[in-house]
Amino acid sequence: MKTVTHSAAEAVTKSRVVEQVIAGQPTSDGAGVKLTRVLTQPLQRRLDPFLMLDAFGTDDPQDYIGGFPDHPHRGFETVTYMIAGRMRHRDSAGHEGLLSNGGVQWMTAGRGVIHSELPEQEDGRMEGFQLWLNLPAKNKLRAPWYRDIQSAEIPERVTVNGVKLRVIAGRSHGVDGAMQREVTLPLYLDLELPAGASFAQALPPAHNAFVYVYRGALAIAGTPVPVQRMAILGNDAGSDGVVLTASVAARALLIAGRPLSEPIAQHGPFVMNTRDEIVQAVRDYQAGRF
Ligand code: FE2
Repeated sequence: MKTVTHSAAEAVTKSRVVEQVIAGQPTSDGAGVKLTRVLTQPLQRRLDPFLMLDAFGTDDPQDYIGGFPDHPHRGFETVTYMIAGRMRHRDSAGHEGLLSNGGVQWMTAGRGVIHSELPEQEDGRMEGFQLWLNLPAKNKLRAPWYRDIQSAEIPERVTVNGVKLRVIAGRSHGVDGAMQREVTLPLYLDLELPAGASFAQALPPAHNAFVYVYRGALAIAGTPVPVQRMAILGNDAGSDGVVLTASVAARALLIAGRPLSEPIAQHGPFVMNTRDEIVQAVRDYQAGRF
């Protein structure tokens, strides 16, 4: 078997294969922001602990100018990664921040926040991603928490193959990411691969993992993954990671985490474990307890 090694930290003997290639659903959210829901509700169980991935990218202000006015969340975390553009965040826990090019906003909704995310620009490109990471049952009602991670604070490394990696969460190629999370142990990488380059990442077989290609194209164990597609990676016990190869210059997110294997009950922006907890969330929100 072929071993692809980029540093002592990431040796992959057998790559995971692509189980499914997903196109996502064009939709709009907030006040008419156009986006593609890449990770949709029917995939939540398969991609546990991840609940949603939205991709947005447009040069037309009409597609984003309304932003996301005040709305609630309970029971999980939102991770927003901006590639281009500026968004102002404000929430009911008193946090405020400006999210801009290359930066990440990590928000733990916990027992409840009301927040807004509004564009701080009237023209130009707006592009980025919002990932929802579930919280274990024991942490769903923890206090809200928030961190703005500016672009310069995200650890980067260039591999010997010339692949640039940004480690938003977890650990890769000996680099600790900007964020670490217990229980779900999320790995969140943004990768930039020159044409012909490959990139190896060790992954525990039980962790659910997917790749979203947002520039160029990749191949994973012989399966082509075109631009604006998500590849769900199989959890074959005999695979110790994944090897991505860029057929042309490419940019992609590689996201993985340990499943919670707990019941998922979702009603819009509330994600709990049972219907009763959802009913309680709606009551608490309506009673102004967020
Ligand atoms: Fe939100």
